[in-house]
Amino acid sequence: MPSLSSYHSFHLDTNCSSVLNIEDVEQLTAAVASNSQFYLLGEGSNTIFLEDFFGTVIVNRIAGIQMRESSAYYHLRVGAGENWHQLVSTALNNGWYGMENLALIPGSVGASPIQNIGAYGLEVGNFIESVEIIDLIDGASKILTYQECLFGYRDSVFKNELAGRVVVTHVNFVLPKKNTLVTSYGELARLSAPSPRKIFDEVIRIRQEKLPDPNVTGNAGSFFKNPVIAAHAYQTLQVSHPSIPGFKIDNENVKVPAAWLIDQCGFKGRRVGDVSCHPNQPLVLTNQGKARGEDVVALAREIMNEVLNTFDITLEPEVRLVGKEGLITL
Ligand code: FAD
Ligand code: EPU
Repeated sequence: MPSLSSYHSFHLDTNCSSVLNIEDVEQLTAAVASNSQFYLLGEGSNTIFLEDFFGTVIVNRIAGIQMRESSAYYHLRVGAGENWHQLVSTALNNGWYGMENLALIPGSVGASPIQNIGAYGLEVGNFIESVEIIDLIDGASKILTYQECLFGYRDSVFKNELAGRVVVTHVNFVLPKKNTLVTSYGELARLSAPSPRKIFDEVIRIRQEKLPDPNVTGNAGSFFKNPVIAAHAYQTLQVSHPSIPGFKIDNENVKVPAAWLIDQCGFKGRRVGDVSCHPNQPLVLTNQGKARGEDVVALAREIMNEVLNTFDITLEPEVRLVGKEGLITL
């Protein structure tokens, strides 16, 4: 059985029945047709293979970046297997600005719309014109418009109505020639005379300072989503926990940093086996060497229980957890 350790950024020592690297739409169609149990993988930076997966891991390597111009926009058609950061970097070097805030997010272009990747004030959905897919129910190639993707915070139609039903083959991006710089998020606000290049460099600097490098210490980025709670529940929590941070989403909802909740519950540096809650960024769980799937699950459940008991807030994993037969929930 091939090892999955190098196929996912948490690097658990688990296996699968077989791995298929596919490079074009024809190979992809054949791969999904001939494998009854499969898991679609980009670069495995949001996936943890908790135990041996009894199926085929289909790795999307569809390549290519094509650019066409209209009077006010650059339009990019990008293969799902391209690396996300390389795309951001290539776009910047060519003067196709806008995506700099999303620099250094690990993973593939094809996975970027799945959870609508986001960082430093922007989400990929801000730049998506449409997504090209294969519908696994009827085998047809289809194009979903931006509106049909139903993007939300770490959310999209691909995680809901279309979960497990589609393969993304290409993503079409649209970048305005007159772009607006977004420097509202935390540290970026301190930049003097901001430019796309300065934002790109600063985002890389902050990320390298804050987040563990998965090539050195296995991790999958934020393990949980930041919970969005009702404004009245937030006000109640402010009485018992006056320092609780919160970001107003709209009049009814407030987003609370999960890192703060986990920090308050005393989990920084907590270990179960070789799985550790990161001492500087407690939203990230790390593999300290020989972590096992059951340790990941045990620590994640402990955190979820403690946050629920203390704050009456249910944390929802952001990472995709894969068991023997496919995706599992905690
Ligand atoms: P994978 O883990 O391979 O797949 C993720 C999901 O997408 C799976 O469900 C998979 O089945 C599905 N999928 C993959 N490719 C396709 C396809 N072609 N068609 C259909 N489904 C597909 N995320 C953020 O949003 N913001 C961040 O700031 C951020 N920072 C991170 C930092 C670190 C250190 C790490 C390790 C991760 C971080 N992440 C972040 C999470 C991760 O980078 C993103 O979720 C990324 O989009 C995952 O890409 P991937 O190719 O590795 O996805
Ligand atoms: N905090 C603590 N204690 C800590 C660290 C942080 O209380 O030890 C609190 C602070 O209040 C801080 C807040 O957590 O202000 C937020 O921390 P940070 O700015 O690092 O962002 P985050 O909410 O932890 C989110 C995304 C990241 C993204 C960054 C930057 C989610 C789940 N995570 O992290 O995305 O890179 O913002 O935009 O939304 C990912 O999805 O994998 C990911 C890394």
